[in-house]
Amino acid sequence: MKHDLISLGDLSKEGIYKIIYKAIDLKAELKFEHRLNYLNGKNLALVFEKPSLRTRVTFEVAIRQLGGSAIYLSQQDIGIGKRESVADIAKNLSRWVDCIAARTFAHKTVLDLAKYSEMPVINALSDLEHPCQALADYLTIYDVLGKIEGVTLAWIGDGNNVCNSLMLGAAILGVNMKIATPKGCEPRKEIVERALALAKNSSAQIALTDDPVQAVKGSEFIYTDTWTSMGQEAEAEKRKAAFSKFQVNKKLLEHAPHIHYVMHCLPAHRGEEITDEVLDGPQSIVLEQAENRMHVQRAILAILLG
Ligand code: CP
Ligand code: NVA
Repeated sequence: MKHDLISLGDLSKEGIYKIIYKAIDLKAELKFEHRLNYLNGKNLALVFEKPSLRTRVTFEVAIRQLGGSAIYLSQQDIGIGKRESVADIAKNLSRWVDCIAARTFAHKTVLDLAKYSEMPVINALSDLEHPCQALADYLTIYDVLGKIEGVTLAWIGDGNNVCNSLMLGAAILGVNMKIATPKGCEPRKEIVERALALAKNSSAQIALTDDPVQAVKGSEFIYTDTWTSMGQEAEAEKRKAAFSKFQVNKKLLEHAPHIHYVMHCLPAHRGEEITDEVLDGPQSIVLEQAENRMHVQRAILAILLG
């Protein structure tokens, strides 16, 4: 049976650690070899409706390092749902490639690709979730602290796709997460409810607030992301005003002597959700997160296609 990776909430705690440990093992193996042959001859289609630097490059490099190849298909190339239906694209790709990684606007598009594809489908970011990002972030937390369970993570900004996947991961892994968003920009109710249900098994504490200072107090990690996600560009000016008190800057960090690490999935909008000083400062681990995208996606590919 094929396995997809659509939502972080679909994984078990063991499933997440399996990916994290595989990422660490493959990274170590690649120190000695330029190329491994676990996925020799396998092909990955990258179906992207939205732009990308990190996700595209890390998937392309990761599959190549495992002996396979990637084919990048932009919206301009294939016109998902316009030139051809999602179902027809999924059925055709299944005849040629071994896996599809899809970056979509509507979450339903990635769900439909998975429904109609005979090959595994990986969510490479949808409007609802960004599971590969959250897995790389938990690998990064593991790298810097040597543990994940019991840490406290503050999310400052928009209750968006990255926040949703991190929150589901937190609930599964036993990470305490304090989410500060302006009123009306909280994560979606059904994701919060799902996280709270998952947290019952892990004892993770998931809390929502509209006060960034309250969120950072006692947290060890602080995470932010753009105020305007891809697809929301028309609201950018309105959102800038709504989020003005949610900037991660030196003043906010002064309230948080416990904060050791600052995280951002990137791309960053310097001077908006985060200042240069903090993004480039000694507590920033954003480039470790970016590097770990490659390690974690290599592991995901090896597990799903191996
Ligand atoms: N963090 C992330 O997914 O970056 P890209 O949008 O550049 O892929
Ligand atoms: N929340 C951002 C993440 C980018 C990687 C977006 O969806 O645009």
